[in-house]
Amino acid sequence: MGQNSSQGSRMTSPVRVILVGAGSRGEVYSGFASIHPERMEIVGVADLRKFARTNLQKKHRIVDENIFEDWHSITEREKFADAVLICTPDRLHKEPAVAFAKKGYHILLEKPMATTPEDCTAIVEACAQSGVMLSVGHVLRYDPVIKRIKELIDAGVVGDVMHIQHLEPVGFYHFAHAYVRGNWRNEAESSFALLAKSCHDIDLIHHWAGARRCVKVSSFGSVSHFKKEDKPAGAADRCLDCAVERDCPYSACKIYLESVKRGDTGWPVSVICPSSFPDIESVTAALRTGPYGRCVYECDNDVCSNQVVNMEFEGGLTSAFSMVAFTEDMCKRKTTIYGSKGELSYNGDEIRVFDFVTQRATKYTADTKNPQHLGVSGHGGADYHLIDAFISAVANNDPSLIRSGPEETLLSHLLVFEAERSRLENRVVYCGSDQSQSQKTQKHF
Ligand SMILES: NC(=O)c1ccc[n+]([C@@H]2O[C@H](COP(=O)([O-])OP(=O)(O)OC[C@H]3O[C@@H](n4cnc5c(N)ncnc54)[C@H](O)[C@@H]3O)[C@@H](O)[C@H]2O)c1
Repeated sequence: MGQNSSQGSRMTSPVRVILVGAGSRGEVYSGFASIHPERMEIVGVADLRKFARTNLQKKHRIVDENIFEDWHSITEREKFADAVLICTPDRLHKEPAVAFAKKGYHILLEKPMATTPEDCTAIVEACAQSGVMLSVGHVLRYDPVIKRIKELIDAGVVGDVMHIQHLEPVGFYHFAHAYVRGNWRNEAESSFALLAKSCHDIDLIHHWAGARRCVKVSSFGSVSHFKKEDKPAGAADRCLDCAVERDCPYSACKIYLESVKRGDTGWPVSVICPSSFPDIESVTAALRTGPYGRCVYECDNDVCSNQVVNMEFEGGLTSAFSMVAFTEDMCKRKTTIYGSKGELSYNGDEIRVFDFVTQRATKYTADTKNPQHLGVSGHGGADYHLIDAFISAVANNDPSLIRSGPEETLLSHLLVFEAERSRLENRVVYCGSDQSQSQKTQKHF
């Protein structure tokens, strides 16, 4: 194994990986093989889109017989790799995850695990029965700062944790791109916003709360603003035809066309042309006919643009979470953890702890040596750390290297489903009641 291995390895050859779903996320994770060819090799790819699979095939020099249109064909073959990266859309997670587990592949599964509590549980059971490792794409767990916050809590710097306040600012144009026009706009096609966007955040709160179980939860939220009745007078159905587009913060001309004119073809421009690389012509064509050129007040979106979740954990620890679309910051989370001896706050830049005894504030840093130069840079480098840990876990046959493993991830997903149930039924949900999955799960795992 090469010198670049962060965890060392018992395997002498690279971990052989199949990519299922060669879209945005698949490309990010598979980039690790280009950086560390001695640790990971992409030996197969499946994607419905010819453009996507051909692009991956070229990058990783994959033999023709291992290129597939649909993932089912891979499971019909003898196992020919160590692991699979499942990066298909939200509603296409359970079926491949269970099928690949049964074939004995270790699995990196994008979040959310699946779109129902039953399917999430079935995935965890299938992996346990087959004895394969499962890592879920909760990338924030691999962010060095998030890890440092947990270490500080465990070291007792704030005493007993009493309350956790956490905000996820989605970002105004990010929300319009993904949750009004894009892949996660409609629950029937993908999943509800709390699951799609904030399962990361509920997972972090659950993690920081320690071994305590959430006992009750309430949630409110709705689709605000991005509705027909909010459409400005004189607006057209497509931004390219719109007379009032200049005054609209969500104008597709501003978000995509102006970016590509400046030469910026990174996200979000990179994802709007499904069968070509983005340039002025292909982006204009996508805005003329595709989903990303639609007026944000004329879409088939139904997922919440703002949602709050209140939780009470065993021992009385409370937590308040907010997800908001209408923000300047994009996914730069803000957290305050209030304890019996101090207050820890994180604003996305630094960790500050105010000690009630000394009445002094201390700033803490984490080892954020950013692996951006290595190419797998998303989520402040956390994407890199996630795939790095997964490959090391497989190479060393050591599941303890995975921080987003099956049991804890399942519990935090089940909490997300309970929160959404509260919102839909307009009542406090007592977790573990109504034969909820969390009770059953705790017995099993
Ligand atoms: N961890 C994170 O922070 C994070 C961030 C964004 C998205 N995600 C999740 O990652 C997953 C993928 O998202 P994305 O942005 O890469 O989407 P994407 O649309 O860019 O990619 C999905 C790919 O799956 C392919 N696909 C669909 N059906 C298939 C099939 N039957 N067989 C093979 N391939 C198939 C599609 O053609 C597409 O290329 C989603 O579940 C999403 O919610 C996670």
